Amino acid sequence: MVSFNSLLAGTLLTVSLSLRSAAFPYGHQFVRGVNLAGWLVLEPWITPSLFENTGNDQIVDEWTFAQYQDTDTALSVLKNHWDTFITEDDFSQIAKAGLNLVRIPIGYWAFEPGQGEPYIDGQLPYLQNATVWARNHGLQIIIDLHGAPGSQNGYDSSGQRLSSPQWHTNQANVDRTEAIIVQIAELFVGDQDVVSAIEPLNDPAGYMGEEVLKVVRQYYQNSYGLIRNEQPNGALVLLHDAFQEPHYWSGFETPPQAEDVAMDTHSYQIFNDQVGRTFEQHTQAACELSSTFSQFNLWVIVGEWTPAYTDCAKYLNGRGIGARYDGSYPGSTSVGSCEGMTGTGDTFSQDYKTNLAKYWDAQTITFEKSTKGWVQRTWKTESAHEWSYQAGLQYGWIPPDASHHNYPQICGGT
Ligand SMILES: *[C@@H]1O[C@H](CO)[C@@H](O)[C@H](O)[C@H]1NC(C)=O
Repeated sequence: MVSFNSLLAGTLLTVSLSLRSAAFPYGHQFVRGVNLAGWLVLEPWITPSLFENTGNDQIVDEWTFAQYQDTDTALSVLKNHWDTFITEDDFSQIAKAGLNLVRIPIGYWAFEPGQGEPYIDGQLPYLQNATVWARNHGLQIIIDLHGAPGSQNGYDSSGQRLSSPQWHTNQANVDRTEAIIVQIAELFVGDQDVVSAIEPLNDPAGYMGEEVLKVVRQYYQNSYGLIRNEQPNGALVLLHDAFQEPHYWSGFETPPQAEDVAMDTHSYQIFNDQVGRTFEQHTQAACELSSTFSQFNLWVIVGEWTPAYTDCAKYLNGRGIGARYDGSYPGSTSVGSCEGMTGTGDTFSQDYKTNLAKYWDAQTITFEKSTKGWVQRTWKTESAHEWSYQAGLQYGWIPPDASHHNYPQICGGT
C-alpha cells in the first residue's frame, strides 16, 4: 500500500507540475512587462523621501540605511514601504495595461542576511505574496537577484554602493549566492505557473574584464545546473549579458547543453556620453538596435529600458551625485538643463511628453521586431515620472494597451 500510495502521489505530483510548468511559453509568446524596482531593494532615485527623511547624507543605499540608523527605526520604515509601495492593486493596474509580466528585484539579504552585515531582512514574505497577486491577475514573474554578497557591480541598486565591487573577488561570495539560487528554486517550485523565470544575477560588472567575466560564466553554468536540479522542467533561466556584445556569448548555454535559457540585455543611452545625443539621434539609435539584438544566439529579453532620455532624475547616479546631462556629474560636460526633464508629469511640457511617447514607441517597436520581450524600468517612482510606467499611463505618453503604438512609423515602418 505504501508503495502504491507514493506511486499515486508521485503521478499526481508529476501531472500537476507538468501542467503548471507549461504556463508561459517564453520565446513564443511575447513578454511585455515592468520592473517592480525600488520595492524589495531600495533605490534612492525611486524613493528619495526614504533617504532624505533619515536626515543623514551618509545613507546612500540599503546597506547604509540599516547601518546608520537605529534598527527599529529602519525596520519600521522598511516595513511600511514594503506594505504600501507595491500592493495587489498595482498588479491589477499592470494587468489592465495589457502587460503580462513583472520583474522583481530582490537582494541576497532577504534570504540569508550575513553575520556582521547590517542588512535588515523581511522582504521574502512580500515576494511570496506577490506570487499570489500575480496568479490572481494573470501575470508572470521574473525573480531577479539584484544584489549578491560583496556587490556584483557597486551600484546602490545592488544594496551596497562601492567604488570597487567585491562579489567576484571571493569564492565565498559566489558560494553564498549559489546557495540562494537553490533556495529560490526550491521555494518557488510549486509556483512555476507564475514564477516562470529566475535571473541568477543582475548587472554583473563584466566591463571590468576577464577577472569578473570568468567568475560570471562559471556562476551562470552552476546556477543553471542548480535550478534544473530543483526544477527539471522549470523556470526559464535568464542570464544578464554582463554588458557584453552578443558575440561574447556565442554558443554559451545553448541547446543541447542547456534548455530554456534566455539572455537579458539592458538598453540605455544615458549612462555614458550617449546622453549627449539629440532626441532624434536617441530615437534613431533605438530603431537601429534590432541589428545588435538579432546577433544573440539565445532568446533575448530587454529586461531594463526606459523612455527617459536624460539622466536628470534626482539620485539616479547615486544619492548626492549629479547628472551627466547638465554637467553636474563629475567629469561630464553639460548637454542642457535638467529643468523640466524630471519630476512629476504635471510639470512636463506637451513637447516633452510627445518625445517620451515617441521614444517609448521607437524602443517597443524595435524590441517587438528583434527580441522575445521587453520589461520597462520601472512601474512606479515617487517623483521621476519620466521613468514611471504608471505615470506614463496617467499622463498619456504610454498607451493604455501595451501592444499599441501611437507612432507606428517612428522607425520608418516595415
Ligand atoms: C501575505 O498575505 C497574507 C494573506 O493575505 C497576509 O495575511 C500577510 O500579512 C501577507 N504578508 C505580508 C508580509 O504582507
